[in-house]
Amino acid sequence: KVDPLKKNPAFTPRRGPLVLLILDGVGFSRYEEGDAFRRALTPHFDWLWEHCPHTTLKAHGTAVGLPSDGDMGNSEVGHNAIGCGRVYSQGAKLVDEAIASGRLFEGPVWRRLVDNAKKNESTLHFIGLFSDGNVHSNIAHLKAMLEQAKREGVKRARIHILLDGRDVGETSALEYVDPFEEFLARLNEDGVDYRIASGGGRMVITMDRYGANWDMVRKGWETHVLGEGRQFSSAHEAIETLRKETGAIDQDLPPFVIAEDGKPVGPIQDGDSVIFFNFRGDRAIEMSMAFEMDDFPYFDRKRRPKVEYAGMMEYDGDKHIPRQYLVAPPSIDRTVGEYLAASGVTQMAVSETQKFGHVTYFFNGNRTGKFSEELEEYIEIPSDIVPFEWRPWMKGAEIAEEVIKAVKENRFRFIRANFPNGDMVGHTGVFQAAVCAMEAVDIQLGRIRKAVEEAGGILLVTADHGNCEEMYEHDKNGNVVRNPDGTPKAKTAHTLNPVPFIIYDPEYRGDYETTLREGLGISSIGTTCIELLGFIPPDDYDPGIVPVKR
Ligand code: 3PG
Ligand code: CO
Repeated sequence: KVDPLKKNPAFTPRRGPLVLLILDGVGFSRYEEGDAFRRALTPHFDWLWEHCPHTTLKAHGTAVGLPSDGDMGNSEVGHNAIGCGRVYSQGAKLVDEAIASGRLFEGPVWRRLVDNAKKNESTLHFIGLFSDGNVHSNIAHLKAMLEQAKREGVKRARIHILLDGRDVGETSALEYVDPFEEFLARLNEDGVDYRIASGGGRMVITMDRYGANWDMVRKGWETHVLGEGRQFSSAHEAIETLRKETGAIDQDLPPFVIAEDGKPVGPIQDGDSVIFFNFRGDRAIEMSMAFEMDDFPYFDRKRRPKVEYAGMMEYDGDKHIPRQYLVAPPSIDRTVGEYLAASGVTQMAVSETQKFGHVTYFFNGNRTGKFSEELEEYIEIPSDIVPFEWRPWMKGAEIAEEVIKAVKENRFRFIRANFPNGDMVGHTGVFQAAVCAMEAVDIQLGRIRKAVEEAGGILLVTADHGNCEEMYEHDKNGNVVRNPDGTPKAKTAHTLNPVPFIIYDPEYRGDYETTLREGLGISSIGTTCIELLGFIPPDDYDPGIVPVKR
């Protein structure tokens, strides 16, 4: 429980609410070519940028708790930073440290899983996102665990690989698979039997989030656990064949099962151990539930093996999913939402399914549910289940309408909304769709700006990390990378770019300096919101962006 915040007598809250708009995946690129944000017609954003105090914020690397400044930002760490007002060491870094120090392998969960596989002479399985994107997982962690398993005498391991192409190059799967096969061959030289057993594109199987499409998890279960599906002799062969047949990029490749003489090499059986090696939770929760829940309503599992199951981290700290995990997640406390609730501030959060958990669960420091039933309202607008390049406007209008309604009714002092378009469409790699996505968001931005003006509120426009501003790969010299046919190579991943921050305050009354502080990260948005609601922020919060008088 936190204490209520003290009021700042030098700041008189406005008539209307404070509205925080997070334009997911929208940053500023130094490259003009492939910048869908720059290319889009965005008169409302441009007007705000021209007429209002603004700056840019860091949204990647150490500014959001990642191991290095070579790590792009992502929505989990971004919303954590925004909603918690401080920077915590995040999953990627915590797992790095737990492996480097050997702590991970000394813990009781690793011990139990390894002992279980040895005692039963059974298989240790790994399921996870197969890349070094460092957003959900890192292949380096997988390799370290395999090496350790061998040292500890685990005879059989099976790896179920989710092809990325979303946090890394869109057709980079073989750059991970081929060296990994060599790595396994070296391990296998003296007596162990470690193999890739199944796989598929991360947007097709297993890694659904927020219950958007449980059918993906069903397909993942059939592929990894039951060993059902189209058979190939190797992951390399599967990827090459499926690419040829479908033309899909890695994240969208169909599932495959590795088999020998018609028999899958690694279905998951009673007595096995299973590690889901993603450290990030949103897309690992559903498969974990499929392993752990006795009454499971989402699909027919047909066969549910009795296994020792663990996640790399605890994916949901409230529901305790999964029950066993290898590394403890950052314990984030005293978030903006909690302080505001304790101070009697009414709050509303809204997004569509794809980002709903971001603006609630992640924003609240990885906490499910509200701090106060009376003071808070969370609205989820169901997302379409379609490739977002087909409907780049997504649910922008619906989200805006919830915001506008709330602004007009003046029921909430603090309203936050996430527009997923820049990110979700950015991840498709389709430039035209990303331009359309940003134009769609801008139309809604214009409507919201007007509502905030009429209500006499304050509007903050920002983002959690970059994505759609860099839709093409660039080489070290800043030139666009091209496909054999001369078209630009699409970039589906997030970026290292800074993000915008704008304050629109039509009833400004001189209670802050209009020259904003420079050089800050998105964790400074927390303090900024608290101050613009008329409170003094906690001492250990990062400095605010807007120099509010005290
Ligand atoms: C995803 O899960 O879609 C990407 O890996 C990261 O996207 P997000 O951090 O914007 O959710
Ligand atoms: Co994203």
